[in-house]
Amino acid sequence: MINIDDRVMGEALKAKITTAEKAAELINPGDKVGVSGFTPSGYPKAVPLALAKRMESNPFQIDLFTGASVGDELDGALTRVNGIRNRYPYQTNKDLRKSINDGKVHYNDVHLSHLAQQIRYGFFGDIDIAIVEAACINADGGIVPTTSVGCTPTYISQAKKVIVEVNVSQPLSLAGMHDIYEPLDPPHRQPIPLVTPGDRIGTTYIPCDPEKIVAIVPCDITDKTRPLAPIDEDAHNMSLHLIEFFENEIKHGRLPKNLLPLQSGVGSVANAVISGLAQGPFKDLSIYTEVIQDGMFDLIDAGKVTVCSGTALSPSPDGLKRFYNNVDEYRKKIILRPQEISNNPGLARRLGVIAMNTAIEFDIFGNVNSTHIVGSKMMNGIGGSGDFARNAYISIFCTNSVAKNGDISSIVPFCSHIDHTEHDVLVFCTERGVADVRGLDPIERARVIIKNCAHPDYQPMLEDYLERAIVATKHAHTPILLDEALSWHKRFQETGSMKK
Ligand code: COA
Repeated sequence: MINIDDRVMGEALKAKITTAEKAAELINPGDKVGVSGFTPSGYPKAVPLALAKRMESNPFQIDLFTGASVGDELDGALTRVNGIRNRYPYQTNKDLRKSINDGKVHYNDVHLSHLAQQIRYGFFGDIDIAIVEAACINADGGIVPTTSVGCTPTYISQAKKVIVEVNVSQPLSLAGMHDIYEPLDPPHRQPIPLVTPGDRIGTTYIPCDPEKIVAIVPCDITDKTRPLAPIDEDAHNMSLHLIEFFENEIKHGRLPKNLLPLQSGVGSVANAVISGLAQGPFKDLSIYTEVIQDGMFDLIDAGKVTVCSGTALSPSPDGLKRFYNNVDEYRKKIILRPQEISNNPGLARRLGVIAMNTAIEFDIFGNVNSTHIVGSKMMNGIGGSGDFARNAYISIFCTNSVAKNGDISSIVPFCSHIDHTEHDVLVFCTERGVADVRGLDPIERARVIIKNCAHPDYQPMLEDYLERAIVATKHAHTPILLDEALSWHKRFQETGSMKK
């Protein structure tokens, strides 16, 4: 067995060290299981694999709660044995996505900042057992998390039993990077005492009653983080457009020279935009974000960052190696917090965060679809995008102007699903340019979005649609042709292209 003696303090806890198979026996059919993990980082691996094996020979299902997406050892392995009944609050696994869209798994896509409070108030019932990855455990039960914090403090505080996977692939030098603070619930809540992105307001470990720990399992399986697409010309152009936008904001006194704390969403586009800022003119940047992708390491390496606060490292596999190779330097800048704090709407508003998230599509009026492909099929989930979008100082959404080799326009007459409304988003960006819609009415917004963001192949179609809608509705406030608004998506479904 892998030796974790130096990572588990105290004889009483050492006596609980056991195998993944024995620990998996402690999970009962129908259990509500809360696990660590966020954007395939810091999730348990050995116990879920043993659980999937057990479910294969003796089928049963559980309800699975995570911080956000987790690796294939958990979402993939349990999906393939039909082991998940309900899943909350975010995922990116291809097998799970298929099961959700085939109606086999009930998926509740939750704003990530809301989850901890909803768990504590029992919206989903009691959490029976928590399974959490740790770098080490203190003698008093205090658990030092690994590459993410997510919702783990809440699962540990709420679960009746806790299984801890001590992962020796995670460096002990992660200890000290975390800042764990769980707010009281209304009506007892106090102001969260965080006024700058670098403030430390909690403990470096997650408190846990050692009596609740029922098993400690050694593990050496590494985080299976997701590759990021290479930074292409389109992504590079988006970042140049945003740099120009920020420079103009500074010129007009609406942003300080070192900007305001930056938040950047998940995925390849968001990563590329952040990475591009490493070549930009801005210095002494602070980051108050949810996920820390490779682009953030680029910014830190370029010496541009004073502090980087998030809830999870979400690097590519190469980015993870880069982090481990230089962990002592990165830990000087990085703070990992519970998602309830990293994504806290009040803190986003207090700090004046600049939120940059990725859209699947947006419409000419400024509504954004972050989650559904052609209206019905779930992609990943809303994640933290809504936490930031509505509460940021400036909320920006980026996307390529076209998808699927140009057969889809990402700017459409009306979104096929809406996650963020026209009231939440102030700036749109594609490789074509930036549409700053502050202060504009819906028709003015539509004109600037079409002009600055749409692809030339689709611009005339969008202009034609808008002008006809204005005439047909006699210049109504938000002109829409009800029978045509979703016809672009229908055309794509029927012919494979939105082009006429
Ligand atoms: N219509 C249909 N499909 C589209 C599309 C559109 N307008 N735009 C993109 N897609 C498809 C792509 O073709 C790709 O499909 P594939 O997986 O079959 O290749 C998929 O959507 C993802 O697109 P990609 O360009 O790879 O985007 P990404 O890696 O930058 O991720 C999101 C984009 C929106 C899926 C991702 O950012 C996300 O899940 N966002 C929601 C959560 C979030 O914002 N969290 C951040 C909070 S801090």
